[in-house]
Amino acid sequence: MKKESAAHTTLGYGDYLRFSRLLQERFGLFFSESRRSELETAILHAFAASSAADLNEYYALLTEQPDGGLEMERLVNAVTVNETYFFRDAAQFDALATAVLPELIERRRMLRTLRIWSAGCSNGEEPYSIAMLLRDTLPDVDEWSITILGTDVNTAALDRARQGLFGDWAFREPRAREMRPRYFRRIGARWELSPDVRRMVTFNRLNLAGTGYPSYNTNTMFMDLILCRNVTIYFNEEVTLGVVERFYDALTDGGWLVVGHSELSLNVYRRFEVRNFPNTVLYQRNGQPRPQPAAPLWPSPAPEPSVSIVSPLPVVPPAPIVPPPVLPEANPLEQARELMEFGRSEEARNLLLTLVKSQSADSEVYILLGQACANLGDLDAAEKWCREALRRNKLALEAYYTLALVQQHQGKVPEAIESLKKVVYIDRNDVLGHFNLARLYYQQGQFPAALKALDNAHRLLEAQQDEAIIPRSGGVTVKRLRDAIVRQQQQWVGRE
Ligand SMILES: C[S@@+](CC[C@H](N)C(=O)[O-])C[C@H]1O[C@@H](n2cnc3c(N)ncnc32)[C@H](O)[C@@H]1O
Repeated sequence: MKKESAAHTTLGYGDYLRFSRLLQERFGLFFSESRRSELETAILHAFAASSAADLNEYYALLTEQPDGGLEMERLVNAVTVNETYFFRDAAQFDALATAVLPELIERRRMLRTLRIWSAGCSNGEEPYSIAMLLRDTLPDVDEWSITILGTDVNTAALDRARQGLFGDWAFREPRAREMRPRYFRRIGARWELSPDVRRMVTFNRLNLAGTGYPSYNTNTMFMDLILCRNVTIYFNEEVTLGVVERFYDALTDGGWLVVGHSELSLNVYRRFEVRNFPNTVLYQRNGQPRPQPAAPLWPSPAPEPSVSIVSPLPVVPPAPIVPPPVLPEANPLEQARELMEFGRSEEARNLLLTLVKSQSADSEVYILLGQACANLGDLDAAEKWCREALRRNKLALEAYYTLALVQQHQGKVPEAIESLKKVVYIDRNDVLGHFNLARLYYQQGQFPAALKALDNAHRLLEAQQDEAIIPRSGGVTVKRLRDAIVRQQQQWVGRE
């Protein structure tokens, strides 16, 4: 195709294929047939602006340098979608404002450093929203060393981000309009962001499909929080998996990953723990392995209300930091229990399966098997074994616990509530049962029931010693849970 006709025509199928393949290889961008005309328009515009005489020459220009040079930059700027606005997705910003940022601030209070990365930040609204939130949350914000990194592959978007000028449409969220008088001033038809907020964010070009992270060079190590929202929807699952794996490595232990709503896939985020918040889900990198072995099914660290613990995803446990238990004397069930405590769920499961096969299994074996499978992320098997345990023993409280957890991760919250109701029916003094039930009720919008369950949990803790450990909590003390409940009550009551 000659240049003169470029703006008026379409690409042949062969050209569509080779250009889309190139964009996928270099930037992970996947263009399905349904987006073909969008891609064609962008390519033809970028081609028209290039020095190439025809499409073959244009393709050669794009491919002759490893990074594609200026021509590739122009093409990528044309093909990427930069839709964004301040405080996009209110539920996620609620979770960040009420839980994640307060928790990170608490964790980093001694060092007074925070490291946050908005990957695929487009015109900057996302990292600037975080900067404003931090200014609102942290009275001594200027005494902290705060890194907010905004990266994107689109250099035109990054230029707009650095400029800090925004139109009315960027404030379509109520929270953005509420903040505007504090952090913006009107300049003609646009709004200029205050220098205090602008200087908190650094913008750099970074291709998420490349190998430039995590690394010191790109300042993408030791992140406390990564936001990568509405970016991997343009990638296929393989590319997304690679990106998410690298985010995991870029995060500190306990660090958070926030992705867009349409990017949910248990498989891709399998290394992370799922944290449920009202109307949203966030991911958290596992914390440090605990010094004392504790059942991994229940959440750790302690259930501060600021960090939702109602739905810990069964996770592949962290590599054990202690030598494997050697229990030559122990019976297989005890041995399996020990293995579980040391985070070796797979071995525990295999051992328990031999007991099942040899027909010498009782409900205890099935309960443990359910927990092991849940830890390994095999939710269907976990459910099967829990039900088997319950068939043998209708009062197997632990089986109901695991079942509730599994159901929650299967998105069956009403069923999870029913299972937890069985837990507190079997043992009405089960504090964690009431506490977790409260969070599930709240999630379902059943506020009176949520507050009542929270109240039950609180009442049960009243007479207990501060330092006593809550059973099955992984080391949470009575005092910590009591404080957590009070803060949760305040938060919920304040919200209604
Ligand atoms: C729809 S915007 C999302 C902006 C913001 N995260 C939000 O949710 O509002 C997607 C951004 O991802 C960027 N992007 C696409 N592919 C990328 C890649 N391979 N590396 C880095 N950024 C990429 C695009 O340039 C675009 O700015």
